[in-house]
Amino acid sequence: MLRLDFNENTIGPSPLVAQVLRNFSTEEIAVYPEYDGLREALVQNLLETGCRPGLLPEQVGLFNGIDAAIHAVFQAYGSAGETLLTTSPTFGYYTPCAGMQGMTIEAIPYQGETFDFPLAAIQEALAARAPRLLLICNPNNPTGTRLPADQLIALAASAPGSLVVVDELYEAFTGDSVLPCADFTATPNLLVFRSLAKTAGLAGLRIGFAIGHADVVDRVSRVTGPYDVNSVAVAAAFAALADQPYVDAYVAEVLRARDWTLEALRQAGVRHHCAGGNYLLIWPQRPVAEVDGALRREGILIRPMAGKPLIDGCFRVSIGTTSQMQRFMAAFLPLER
Ligand SMILES: Cc1ncc(COP(=O)(O)O)c(C=O)c1O
Repeated sequence: MLRLDFNENTIGPSPLVAQVLRNFSTEEIAVYPEYDGLREALVQNLLETGCRPGLLPEQVGLFNGIDAAIHAVFQAYGSAGETLLTTSPTFGYYTPCAGMQGMTIEAIPYQGETFDFPLAAIQEALAARAPRLLLICNPNNPTGTRLPADQLIALAASAPGSLVVVDELYEAFTGDSVLPCADFTATPNLLVFRSLAKTAGLAGLRIGFAIGHADVVDRVSRVTGPYDVNSVAVAAAFAALADQPYVDAYVAEVLRARDWTLEALRQAGVRHHCAGGNYLLIWPQRPVAEVDGALRREGILIRPMAGKPLIDGCFRVSIGTTSQMQRFMAAFLPLER
């Protein structure tokens, strides 16, 4: 199966990760996980990849995937009657978590044919309602919409009573991180999500990081269990963080594949939208369910956007390697005739 439905790394992790997993011992399985050094390794990796100097290990929280970090943020900060401010359409796990806390959800739509960020409306809602949480997926999944780091920081600075969470799982593909500019002393209400799922290929092992002011990280981490991140994920994360060139090479290949795919779509006259991240939206001529079924029979998985506001009628396809995208296009284009 060619899985282009969940924006994962499509070729798997670094050989260093595979080696660590092969050597993982039964003794290590028998005992509880050990987290010593992992926060330090992440901090070092972040500093080497452009994060603002001064970040400390206590400013990093470890989670069983970013899904768990999202859940923890809502448990730690959300309660009945308070508001989650977010955008629409966006990553689907924010609103159920808000709903579980009995929060009111205000989701502001992206704007126009290019799904621009609704900055004025977000600023207005922040000022008018002082929501408990503002969650921004940047670049946004699925529209790819990007908000520059200085504007994100300005949003956080303008609303000290709201926790502003920036989910940057896809930042590596278009260089959108807020971390090079973020000063968590000046804006302690800013929290950033990072993961090894989409670039380093560890999605199946479940590990993610929340980065922010130490007090916020501590509060969010307190609602998880002491051993929620398992030992195999920890070992793999150390190896993945030690092989940044592998991640960089994968990202570079995805960007080459992205250019190839966009040119092929343009030449074929297919309506599409591609901005940040390792994915794009395509509006096929046939009903999406039909296209989904036909591609599935060819062994290719895509993600229909049926029922999503503004983008019902299109599907999202992850960008893998150039040869994988050539395979996708070879299966998709005949369906357009
Ligand atoms: C924007 C966004 N946030 C969070 C997640 C969940 O990430 P993880 O696999 O680390 O739980 C995803 C996964 O698709 C995502 O797209």
